[in-house]
Amino acid sequence: MCGIVGAVSQRNIVPILVEGLKRLEYRGYDSCGVAVHQDGGLRRARSTSRVAELQAQADQDGIAAGTGIAHTRWATHGAPAVHNAHPHFSAGPNSGNPAGAEAVGRIALVHNGIIENHDELRAELKARGYVFASQTDTEVIAHLIDHLYSGDLLDAVQQALPRLKGAYAVAVFCRDEPHRVVAAREGSPLVLGVGEGENFVASDAMALAGVTDQIVYLEEGDVVDLQLGRYWISRLDTTTGRFGAVQREVKTVHAHSGAAELGPYRHYMQKEIFEQPVAIANTLDAVTGISPELFGDGAYRVFKEVDKVLILACGTSYYSGSTAKYWLESIARIPTSVEIASEYRYRDSVPDPRTLVVTISQSGETADTIAALKHARAQGMKHTLTICNVATSAMVRECELAYITRAGAEIGVASTKAFTTQLVGLFLLTLALAQTRGHLGEADEARHLKNLRHLPVAVQAVLALEPQVIAWSEEFARKENALFLGRGLHYPIALEGALKLKEISYIHAEAYPAGELKHGPLALVTAEMPVVTVAPNDALLEKLKSNMQEVRARGGQLYVFADGDTAIESEVGLHVIRMPEHYGALSPILHVVPLQLLAYHTACARGTDVDKPRNLAKSVTVE
Ligand code: F6R
Repeated sequence: MCGIVGAVSQRNIVPILVEGLKRLEYRGYDSCGVAVHQDGGLRRARSTSRVAELQAQADQDGIAAGTGIAHTRWATHGAPAVHNAHPHFSAGPNSGNPAGAEAVGRIALVHNGIIENHDELRAELKARGYVFASQTDTEVIAHLIDHLYSGDLLDAVQQALPRLKGAYAVAVFCRDEPHRVVAAREGSPLVLGVGEGENFVASDAMALAGVTDQIVYLEEGDVVDLQLGRYWISRLDTTTGRFGAVQREVKTVHAHSGAAELGPYRHYMQKEIFEQPVAIANTLDAVTGISPELFGDGAYRVFKEVDKVLILACGTSYYSGSTAKYWLESIARIPTSVEIASEYRYRDSVPDPRTLVVTISQSGETADTIAALKHARAQGMKHTLTICNVATSAMVRECELAYITRAGAEIGVASTKAFTTQLVGLFLLTLALAQTRGHLGEADEARHLKNLRHLPVAVQAVLALEPQVIAWSEEFARKENALFLGRGLHYPIALEGALKLKEISYIHAEAYPAGELKHGPLALVTAEMPVVTVAPNDALLEKLKSNMQEVRARGGQLYVFADGDTAIESEVGLHVIRMPEHYGALSPILHVVPLQLLAYHTACARGTDVDKPRNLAKSVTVE
């Protein structure tokens, strides 16, 4: 998703800005750009190609200066095209351009997020003589700040912000103030990086790795004025209607550069699938026993005060939450509902203050999940916990309690190791709640802990199935549709398998609880339809076998990941890959791995851009 980097320095900051963009590349983008204050004016380079190309273009055009902003764009308003790429320049009555020259005003701006009232602002600014060069919602902000500017950039930005409706992080500089960048956030993440005699902003501390480790996490509504050797943070005081100074803690953050080596792997996704044993082991590293305090100080009191769980998440994280519902209800005996965050945030639901609100997020910055969390809190549900992979993220800062998964930076857009480590965190939560509620004896605790600790070895054994999965993927690469089936605890795993396949191979894939097949989707089954089935040896196995017969009777091709002792054997129309061991309650963590491999190898066989699938972004910071 969109990324911002900005700087005020005495040195040429273009290489730092471009390097920062490279570190945000993994989030997904379709165009990029950089603008600097040079020779008394605004200069920029923009591209719909890769960030590496942008550097070459900037070098070729001699773009180099100490004050600048840069951006990777993921299109929301307006096609991915150079004229829509940021930075945007104001252009209007105050431009003072010689006749015939490109209309370049005095404001340069980058923006993440969505401005909802852009149509209304556009009409107003057009009437004032501003010239629009893009279809973006962003350009209105540049023109608006230009319109309000009267010699003080901070003042103009502070006047403009209350007029914007929506979510944003912006960074802006002005032709008339060479050593100043003003940045602000409301709904999209932004950090300030404090250097020696120089200051930076970025949408993630990772973008500033190697530049500065002194980071301020700006809060919603903060505006930061960056100059050489000084910065000033302010926010609107709603009682006085004026902006006043605020103090924010400077933290030392050892951000991962994100520039992880691929090693022997073809793609980050493959590397991350194979990192799962280590990621799971790291996530369990500090766990010596089950206790609420694994989730933070005060967790015991919170767990005692709740008698319901509400899980809020999106995408893959929603599926880990959907899996956890089965655990929470059957092991901890606590009623659990799981909601898609983008729906929940607008739904008129019935709040219950005795609910533990659990958000799940790899990035910790997903706009819909953060909004859903705030919505739940605004409805009186004060007990919040997050399972998150980024300790410094907005989600962790917003929640009362947290479990930090230790998957390490996930670069591939398709989530893999974040999912399995989330499941580990959620299983620990289940056990801790079960313990608090009197449903976990010592023997059960010891048994579950033993199984958790054996997971890295068990996942390693599943990864050894890769050659068999590759053989299947060659078949799948020729298909345009696929069905995934699972039952009970493994239905969300089927959903996750279908999501992985569609997002990276672009094959249309849908998942159903196998018992639901006969109520409609069976109509889709022909000899052309591969039907992937997750078949653990659990209480629903015999039911699942009947559902498989329904598919076979219609000529469907079954591709089954079956536990060893299920007595499901390969025959015509029935292809079986045998899982190394049956894993009881933790079986979903094993069964998802071959589905990740199947999606990955199918996408490779189809030649798609596996790590950066079309139209998708890694960290979805817009609504
Ligand atoms: C799919 C995928 C997405 C994310 C979703 C939520 O492979 O990665 O569906 O799971 O965008 O992201 P997080 O977990 O960062 O909140």
